[in-house]
Order: sequence, then C-alpha cells, then structure tokens
Amino acid sequence: MKMNLSEATAIREGSPQCKNCGGVGFTLVENVRGSRSGALSLCFCVGSDCNKCESKGQAPYLVFDQSQNRMLPCVCHNARLSVRNLEQLVENANIPARYRFQFLSTIDLGESNHDPDLSFIVAHDWANELVHNWADPAFVPQGFYLWGGTGSGKTLLACVILNELIFRYGVKCKYAKVNKDFLSAIRDTYQTDSETHGQERFIEREFANVDVLVIDDFGVQKESEFNNRKLYDLIDSRYEQEKITLLTSNHPLDEWRERGQGRIYSRLMEMTKEIQLKCPDYRMKFTPERV
Ligand SMILES: Nc1ncnc2c1ncn2[C@@H]1O[C@H](COP(=O)(O)OP(=O)(O)OP(=O)(O)O)[C@@H](O)[C@H]1O
Ligand SMILES: [Mg+2]
Ligand SMILES: [Zn+2]
Ligand SMILES: [Zn+2]
Repeated sequence: MKMNLSEATAIREGSPQCKNCGGVGFTLVENVRGSRSGALSLCFCVGSDCNKCESKGQAPYLVFDQSQNRMLPCVCHNARLSVRNLEQLVENANIPARYRFQFLSTIDLGESNHDPDLSFIVAHDWANELVHNWADPAFVPQGFYLWGGTGSGKTLLACVILNELIFRYGVKCKYAKVNKDFLSAIRDTYQTDSETHGQERFIEREFANVDVLVIDDFGVQKESEFNNRKLYDLIDSRYEQEKITLLTSNHPLDEWRERGQGRIYSRLMEMTKEIQLKCPDYRMKFTPERV
C-alpha cells in the first residue's frame, strides 16, 4: 500500500497534479519486506522522466546536457535529495523500526472497534498541538512526561511526534531508551575495547543538544550515583538550553520527588506536561483470547 504524504510534509518536488503523491514527489510504501514500517519511494511522476539519469539513483543526481555541454541536475534531483535527507534524519533519530514512519493520522483513535479512550485522545491532542504550532514564533513548546501501563501507546506517541517534526520541519530529533541507548552507551565509552572508547563527552553533548529528545522507559534504570548524575546532567543541560524533552514511563512523575532524582524531578516538573494514559494494553488486541 502507498501512502500519500502531502499532509505530512510541505515538500513539493513532484508534479503538482499527481494523484499518487499529491505533488510531494515520493510516497511511503507500506509493508515493505524486511521492514514493518515501510520505506520512502520516488513517485513515477518524477521517476518516469528520469530514465536518462546517468546517476542511476546515486548522488549527486546529475545528467549531461548536450546543448549546454555540462552536467545539470536531473529532474529527479530535488526529490531524491529530499528523500535522502528525510531518511538520514530518521536514521540519526534512532527511531525503532516498529515506530518509524508513523504519523498522527496513522494512529488508531479507537473509532473503528472500541470506544476511544479519553486519556489517549488528550495525549493525541497535545501532540497535535505541539506539531502544528511548532513553527509559530509565539508558541512556547513544552515537553511531556507520558506515563501509563504497558502497551498503552507511550512509545508510539513519542515516536509519532518525532516523525511529524522530521517530515514537517526537518527537526533534528533523537530517540533513546534510558538504559540501552543512553546510560549503557555512556558506560561503554569507559571500555578500552569499545568503538566509542573515550567519547563520553561527545555522546553526552549529542543527547544534550539535539532539538527534540525522547527518553523512553524512564524509571527502569537502577538508582546509582553514576546513573543519577548522568541523567541529572542531561536533563539539566536540556533544561538550561530550553530544549524539548519527551519522557515516557510506567510510573507517575512525583515518584521521583523523594528519591535520589529529586533534582531531576523539579526540572521535569517545569519542562514537561504530565499526561497519564489509562488505555488497556493495545498489544492484547491482536492476541487471540485464550479459553
Ligand atoms: N492508538 C494506537 N494506534 C495504533 N497502534 C497502537 C496504538 N496504541 C498502541 N499501539 C501499538 O501497540 C503496541 C504497543 O504500544 P507502545 O509500544 O507504544 O506501548 P508502550 O506504552 O510504550 O508500552 P511499554 O510500557 O510496554 O513500553 C505498538 O505496536 C503500538 O504501535
Ligand atoms: Mg514503550
Ligand atoms: Zn507523483
Ligand atoms: Zn534522475
């Protein structure tokens, strides 16, 4: 199945009348083998004129022009660059395959087969507002602290915001599971045989400076002096730079107040809006009932 991306991005590198891509120049092809979430594919409205392209789809997408006796951008040039740029942003964001290329419009709000859960709609509305007001200079964006039970859609919603911001505005985003992608990545830099040996500062700076950061599964990390300090430094640095941080957790925010993370708590209170998801485990919808 192909998804027309004209609602998800302002890019218009295709033919304006093309019904397939809505003028974007590429589409999202879903159910691609080896990928759950699909892949971007050049639309035929760009590709059909590109049969002379000597670049064969490889950068820098130029063709030789006889009349001018020089290389000129192929008709596919801008569309391919846009695709490559988006793919690069998605890859750098480290969004897991399951949640890649998912948008606000592709989320199930429950109309079809069960009553929409109010808490999910509140969170979805909040996300919608952040995404649509992002470029408005008068809008002061805020992060969220989204918590709730397993399968309630926290990781999905957080990643949807990243995808939307990438496709709409080309924002530099990053997704990180608190343990695997952040704390362990930093701990690895102390190992002499690690590829990232000695790069602690570099990695920390990357997480601190990216425009929008998702910290997934906040609260699963062990309480330790090292973990608390590294998380405090990260949150504090994003707090000072007024960067947007989206956290997901299985626990309410005030659980951190009394713990070693008290100083993190007070910053998160200011940087984020706490939203609780009360929906049932979505994963169970597809698990046949046992008798
Ligand atoms: N409203 C929804 N529409 C479509 N898919 C959904 C929705 N809610 C959840 N899902 C899907 O259900 C699965 C579980 O959602 P998700 O991974 O976001 O849960 P979670 O709240 O992060 O759970 P955990 O606490 O276990 O990490 C995912 O495959 C997700 O894509
Ligand atoms: Mg999750
Ligand atoms: Zn097209
Ligand atoms: Zn071409």
